[in-house]
Amino acid sequence: MLDARGLGVDFGQRVILRDFDLRVAPREFVCIVGPSGCGKTTLLRLLAGLAAPSRGELSFNGRRVDGPQPGMAIVFQDYGRALLPWRTVAGNIALALEAGRVPRQEFEPRIAGLLEKMQLAPHADKFPAQLSGGMQQRVQIARCLAQEPQILLMDEPFGSLDAITRHELQDEVCRIARDDGRTVVFVTHDLEEAIYLGDRVVALAANPGRIAEVVDIDLPRPRNQLETREDVRFLQYRHRLYKHLAH
Ligand SMILES: Nc1ncnc2c1ncn2[C@@H]1O[C@H](COP(=O)(O)OP(=O)(O)OP(=O)(O)O)[C@@H](O)[C@H]1O
Ligand SMILES: [Mg+2]
Repeated sequence: MLDARGLGVDFGQRVILRDFDLRVAPREFVCIVGPSGCGKTTLLRLLAGLAAPSRGELSFNGRRVDGPQPGMAIVFQDYGRALLPWRTVAGNIALALEAGRVPRQEFEPRIAGLLEKMQLAPHADKFPAQLSGGMQQRVQIARCLAQEPQILLMDEPFGSLDAITRHELQDEVCRIARDDGRTVVFVTHDLEEAIYLGDRVVALAANPGRIAEVVDIDLPRPRNQLETREDVRFLQYRHRLYKHLAH
């Protein structure tokens, strides 16, 4: 579905990312993990067509990516800035339907379905400032899902949430990916989150950003916050990949 070959980015004289190769298959959940500043956001922006690479090629469904693609949706870390403060929860989700030129009569059932899916139904008429961080991030995810994307690109979406909320949203994203057959590329600096979510973990090294190691994650699904994290294989993956995150 997504095919990156030899992607590289320079900012001025500085090489930020080099030789990035990745093929993502439909329905695959790929996590990209790496230390702060190694180029994860830069990479995700490339994959999303929001920035152009200095080198290499990128295609989505066999077509060269030269700008934002209709089949892609991006979830940003900073939900505070991603949502429109003057629109309600339902109004923020409607934004994606408006942009997608969905007929008006379909708005209500589609928004209701998304509110249900993201457990936001009681909050439809609230404004973002009236919601917790976790709920705001649910709204952003619901708005992305309203685009019915083939692929979700997520940049540290749970980075600023508390641990329990984070776990809940991890399970939510796993469920959506599985039930709706979505493909996900998920960027995080949290190794355990990457192993918990992914079918595959791509570990990046810094200066310049590059692939250090790629590991297939052989853990049963559905995953479980207690059992999966206690699985000896989970701990072995953690052990194996930890060195890439350490300074
Ligand atoms: N527009 C820019 N111009 C120049 N340098 C930049 C620009 N954007 C990012 N960089 C540099 O590129 C490197 C990678 O930044 P990036 O934001 O992609 O890292 P990251 O892995 O997402 O970090 P974090 O984990 O902190 O979010 C950093 O050293 C940063 O200073
Ligand atoms: Mg980043």
